[in-house]
Amino acid sequence: MEGKKMISLKEFNTFGVQATTPLFNEVKTSLALQEVIKNKNYDNALIIGGGSNILLLEEFSRPVIKISIPGIRIINESDNMAVVSAGAGVVWHDLVMWCVTNNLGGIENLSLIPGLVGAAPIQNIGAYGVELSDVFFNVVAIHRKTGHSRIFEAEDCAFGYRDSVFKQELKDEYIITTVRLSLTKKNHVLNTSYGNIKESLDEMKVKNPTIDDIAKAVIRIRRSKLPDPKSLGNAGSFFKNPIVTQTETKHLLEQYPNMPYYSIDDTFGKIPAGWLIEQAGFKGAKNGNVGMHTNQALVLVNYGNATGASLWEYAKKVMASVKEKFGIELETEVNIIL
Ligand code: EPU
Repeated sequence: MEGKKMISLKEFNTFGVQATTPLFNEVKTSLALQEVIKNKNYDNALIIGGGSNILLLEEFSRPVIKISIPGIRIINESDNMAVVSAGAGVVWHDLVMWCVTNNLGGIENLSLIPGLVGAAPIQNIGAYGVELSDVFFNVVAIHRKTGHSRIFEAEDCAFGYRDSVFKQELKDEYIITTVRLSLTKKNHVLNTSYGNIKESLDEMKVKNPTIDDIAKAVIRIRRSKLPDPKSLGNAGSFFKNPIVTQTETKHLLEQYPNMPYYSIDDTFGKIPAGWLIEQAGFKGAKNGNVGMHTNQALVLVNYGNATGASLWEYAKKVMASVKEKFGIELETEVNIIL
């Protein structure tokens, strides 16, 4: 799919906003990707996977490379562990289901996270007490300037909360083509402690959960709270949960004794952005076609034909309100693309 006329990106971003590109190329192999990036016209191309973590603004006019590299296989195994290798273009949830079906444990809590495998390490996706970095083996990535392929081990990736080297020092320098995960074949370490997983398992009448039960519980919770981008344009959590000092948290707790927070260490903690946004009065609030979701205030929603600019304007209004009420600066989790 390549040509001179402008190509619409509406179906390539889960917000479903209108934006166009003059050059679009979909690649299905690393070799094809290496060929495309040799072409100078693609120097500043936006690399997209599932388009589930981007907000495109109308002024956008860069070329686009869509990564559709397929394939899931086991490349190494012992009695207890298996290393699973997946192409960057595999749908993340399909990989989770493949692993659960093959009784490989470690990513069941990450069921139903939108997007493709290649994007998962970039923001170190996480949910319900598990982060990608917990099961990470390594990734293969192509250097955009030279076209060389490089392996990044965990220690090269500087994983943090929704963060990695690919969002920091190496931002836009590498394109991930393969992700490898180290998963358990037996004695799975089940993570049922987060939020309402236990409650959900109880409702499902499960006493001794398997990884399949956990996946099902997570799917139930996510479906009940988070809107499906197929029916309502959104990109999951729009903001990150802000990291604040324990001193600041203590101060806020005096004013808001019911404020939820997670301690990170002796110095820092995280406050759920959804709670801050709800307290600021934005849960379920709408302005025309734009609003914060009714069941999870952290999710910015396109209720109709909203533009990227109007979504961004609304998000900035939410940020200003939270700043005014709590003195906390929210940071976006979603990438705002110009
Ligand atoms: N809360 C509110 N109001 C809201 C939403 C949440 O008061 O509108 C409160 C809840 O009552 C709870 C706390 O905030 O006490 C945490 O809520 P929740 O368990 O829904 O998780 P979260 O911190 O809002 C994070 C991730 C989600 C992930 C869930 C579950 C971030 C930015 N978001 O949300 O990730 O699914 O935990 O692990 O860290 C995503 O990245 O797209 C995403 C959905």
